Amino acid sequence: MAIGRAKITIVGAGFVGATAAHWAAAKELGDVVLVDIIEGLPQGKGLDLAQAGPVEDFDANIVGTNSYAETEGSDIVIITAGIARKPGMSRDDLIGINLKIVGEVTESVVKLSPDAYLIIVSNPLDAMTYAAYKKSGFPPNRVMGMAGVLDSARMATFIARELNVSVENVSAFVLGGHGDTMVPLPRFTTVAGIPITELLPKERIDAICQRTASGGAEIVSLLKTGSAYYAPGAAAVRMAEAILKDKKMILPCCVHLSGQYGVDGYFVGVPAKLGASGVEEVIEIRLDDEEKAAFAKSVDAVKELSAIVDQNL
Ligand code: APR
Repeated sequence: MAIGRAKITIVGAGFVGATAAHWAAAKELGDVVLVDIIEGLPQGKGLDLAQAGPVEDFDANIVGTNSYAETEGSDIVIITAGIARKPGMSRDDLIGINLKIVGEVTESVVKLSPDAYLIIVSNPLDAMTYAAYKKSGFPPNRVMGMAGVLDSARMATFIARELNVSVENVSAFVLGGHGDTMVPLPRFTTVAGIPITELLPKERIDAICQRTASGGAEIVSLLKTGSAYYAPGAAAVRMAEAILKDKKMILPCCVHLSGQYGVDGYFVGVPAKLGASGVEEVIEIRLDDEEKAAFAKSVDAVKELSAIVDQNL
């Protein structure tokens, strides 16, 4: 067996793409190819990042390019191409522009990397993941979207701050679409194994859930010119790492459902096991009536956007 480095292509060398490249290289997950349509941008960021290698001691070939030739044979493709939202915009407002971009990008990458795992980051996330699935013709285990890792990381951050404990103690859980209707689940959120419902009063938990659901908008309103990228970049790379290291790690991800949670044929955020075969299993948990209702509302929002994909792709 030939022993070699994994190849990770990141399409879109903007804030999220460049940050994902940074995490992937620093973790030595493999060689990185950064692709963008803007001439010089991926080349410049790629060269700059490569020059951090001797400082931070990582070995990774990092290539920036405007063509897909260099992406050939990628193991993982992370798609961050598209526009980001500005204050006052919802993720859903991006669909017109990003659907076209994600469709074109998917078509280009899968030609040269027919065996890759696709991790979608472009928003609106659930619809863009569905679009990449349709456009790629890949089996559902090889197409997934990054949302839940980010949303639950946001929730974990707020809980750790509230309780003044290590973020490493917190295991937070968010289900559903990556939009305003996402469903943070306090019942399945723990601190050192203790459910947060035992540690915090209901009104504090409600406030944390609310802040989690609007966590992206909070950052957009602070940045004013774009959206979050450190945590989104890290979250996408966490998913890539789970696959490349065959970790069998259960992460909340946007994955194809075929009957689980009563949903068939859509991509929605649920706990999934990621390993060398990509999405290896969807984990079903029993929801109470209130959680079920919130999840159903979120799924309806995902279905609405997926219909736009069906009509336009
Ligand atoms: N092919 C390759 N790259 C493209 C294409 C394309 N067809 N169209 C746009 N891009 C590139 C842009 O040139 C830009 O460099 O995608 C990059 C996007 O970067 P930013 O504008 O910095 O946006 P970013 O913050 O990285 O967000 C990217 O991820 O989180 C989501 O909602 C966010 O949809 C947005 C995406």
